[in-house]
Amino acid sequence: MAVALIVAAGSGQRLGARRPKAWVELAGRPLLGWSLESISRTASIERVVIAMPPGDAGPEAAARLGLDRAVELVEGGQSRSESVARALRASGEDEIVLVHDAARPLLTPELAESVIAALVGDPGADAAIAAAPVSDTIKRADGALTVIETLDRSVLWSVQTPQVFRREALRRVLDAPPEQLAAATDDASLIERAGGRVIVVPSSPENLKVTTPVDLRLAELLLADRHRSDA
Ligand code: CTP
Ligand code: MG
Repeated sequence: MAVALIVAAGSGQRLGARRPKAWVELAGRPLLGWSLESISRTASIERVVIAMPPGDAGPEAAARLGLDRAVELVEGGQSRSESVARALRASGEDEIVLVHDAARPLLTPELAESVIAALVGDPGADAAIAAAPVSDTIKRADGALTVIETLDRSVLWSVQTPQVFRREALRRVLDAPPEQLAAATDDASLIERAGGRVIVVPSSPENLKVTTPVDLRLAELLLADRHRSDA
């Protein structure tokens, strides 16, 4: 069985709402509630730890989220990776650890299950990550905005969460100074830097990250569509 860590401790500066992004209302519930529901419906996951914004890890927050006893709240840290490290410390012993950003509310249980299965099925891998093929043409430019090269799109992936790790590999790379953790935008990059093997699980671009108000609007439309096709 696996444990899921949901990181929801960010302030959501780029979204610009009056409250932390996790609490921003999206299609009738807090943004965090959407990925929490998908995680709760993932059969391989038996426990969940959520890294919450400062001051939001108490019984009041738990009640607002309608939590059951298999979900634990902890306060997050200054950086995303610090929040992951704090949630990991509170997460018990399960060997397989799934990390997901609360900012990706379109997660499905099928995607979570397939990333877990990819890691479990490849004993030589340290991590498996959801990622979408890049659809734009990507160029590299210098400081003067002169194009240096056009990258080969067929080998490029736009990385998402969930990212699934073997506990010991994740624990080891997160045991680093805060400055080093703050520089990482995902956990898999820490594994790569330490020489670990990370595998990609192809995912849909629909599993988008809510960063700006436009993303929030798009997520709302996609969730409404999904709801309609479920009905
Ligand atoms: N996160 C976290 N702890 C932090 C910073 C971020 O748990 N100290 C989480 C966010 O809650 C989010 C995910 O990491 O679910 C991805 O981060 P991002 O989209 O950058 O969210 P914010 O940091 O909240 O947004 P911003 O950077 O615009 O302030
Ligand atoms: Mg951020």
